[in-house]
Amino acid sequence: MSKGVKPVSRIVGLGVSYPDNIMTNQDLEKIVETNDEWITTRTGIKERHLVKRGERTSDFCIRAAREALAEAGIAAEELDAIILGTISGDLRFPATATLIQEAIGAKNAAAWDISATCSGFMFSLYSADTLIAANRAKNVLVLGAELLTPITDWSDRGTCVLFGDAAGAAVVTRATDDRGVLSVVIGSNGSYTDLLYCVGHGTSSKGELAALNGERVIHMNGNEVFRHAVRMLERTAKEAVEKAGLDPADVDWLIPHQANTRIIAATAERLGLPMEKVFLNIHKYGNTSSASVPLAMYEARKEGALRDGQVMLSVVFGGGFTWGGAVIRF
Ligand code: ACO
Repeated sequence: MSKGVKPVSRIVGLGVSYPDNIMTNQDLEKIVETNDEWITTRTGIKERHLVKRGERTSDFCIRAAREALAEAGIAAEELDAIILGTISGDLRFPATATLIQEAIGAKNAAAWDISATCSGFMFSLYSADTLIAANRAKNVLVLGAELLTPITDWSDRGTCVLFGDAAGAAVVTRATDDRGVLSVVIGSNGSYTDLLYCVGHGTSSKGELAALNGERVIHMNGNEVFRHAVRMLERTAKEAVEKAGLDPADVDWLIPHQANTRIIAATAERLGLPMEKVFLNIHKYGNTSSASVPLAMYEARKEGALRDGQVMLSVVFGGGFTWGGAVIRF
C-alpha cells in the first residue's frame, strides 16, 4: 500500500494544443527595448507560441479535449461535465466550455468556464474532484486554455515578453486504486486586484469592441506579483503535500505553473526540492497562464519523465490573487 491518502479522482487522459507560430526573444528585440539575455536570465523564456488572427481559444481546447478523451478511452457522450479555466474565452458569453461541448458532441455534459487567471486549471481540477467525491459526476473534462497574446500590450516590455498561447485538457474520473489526485487546494485574496488585471473581454473578432477604449490589455506590477507568488506558492505547496498525507521528500516531480524560472527555483528551494526534480518547459512556451500546468504535465508524461506510480506536486499562482496546488500519483 502506498503512502498517503486514498484518492477520489484520477487523471486518465491528457491533451494539448498550441499555435504553430513561434516568436523568439530575438523577434521581440525588434518590437521593444529588450534583449535575449535579459529575458532568459530574468524569466527563463526563450520563445513562445502566438495565436494567429482568426484562431480562437475554443479551437485549441477542442483539439486538446479530443486527444485527452482518446488517451482516456472515454467517449464524449460519457462526460458529465466540462470545466474550462480561462480568462480569454472566445466571447464574453456563452462560456467557451459550451462551444467545446458542441464541437466534441458531449451532449450529456454540463459545461461552464471558471475565471481564475493562471490558477484556472487548478480551480477546474478542484471542481472536478469535488463533483466526483460528491457522486455528482463520474467523468469530467477539465481544461486550462489561454490566448493572452491578443490582450497583451506589445509596447510594454515588462509584460509582452512573458506570455504565450496554449490549451491543455485532462479527463478526470473516479480513482480505483492508490493512483489519482491525493489532494487539491485552492485559494483567493481579492486585495491585490491593482497589481494584475485586465478590463476588456474576448479574443474573437467581436472582442475588438473592447479594444476601442484601449482597456483590453493586461496590466501587471511584475515585481510585486513576484514577491507574493513566491510566498504563496511555498505555503500552498506545503498545504497540498500535508493534505495528501505525504512529506516534500515523497514528491518525485514538482510541476509548477511556468511563470518565471526564478519564482520556480525559489519555490523548489523553500520546499527542499532539488532542481532535478523540477519539470520546466517555460523556455519553449512562456507563461501560458491556465494552460501551463496541463501542458507541463503532458510533456512530463510524453517525455517519460513522470512515470506511472510517481508523485507530482503542482502549484499555481495568478491574478486575483488566486492560487492552488495538487498532489497527484500517476
Ligand atoms: N527587457 C529589458 N529590461 C526590462 C524588461 C525587458 N523585457 N522588462 C523590465 N525591464 C527592466 C525594468 O524597466 C527595470 O529597469 P530599471 O531597473 O532601470 O527600472 C529592470 O528591468 C528590472 O525590472 P523589474 O520589473 O524589477 O524586473 P523583475 O526582475 O521583477 O522581472 C518580471 C520582471 C519578469 C515580470 C518578474 O517580476 C515576474 O516574473 N513577475 C511575476 C509574473 C507572474 O508570475 N505573474 C502571475 C501570473 S500572470 C497572470 O495571472 C495573467
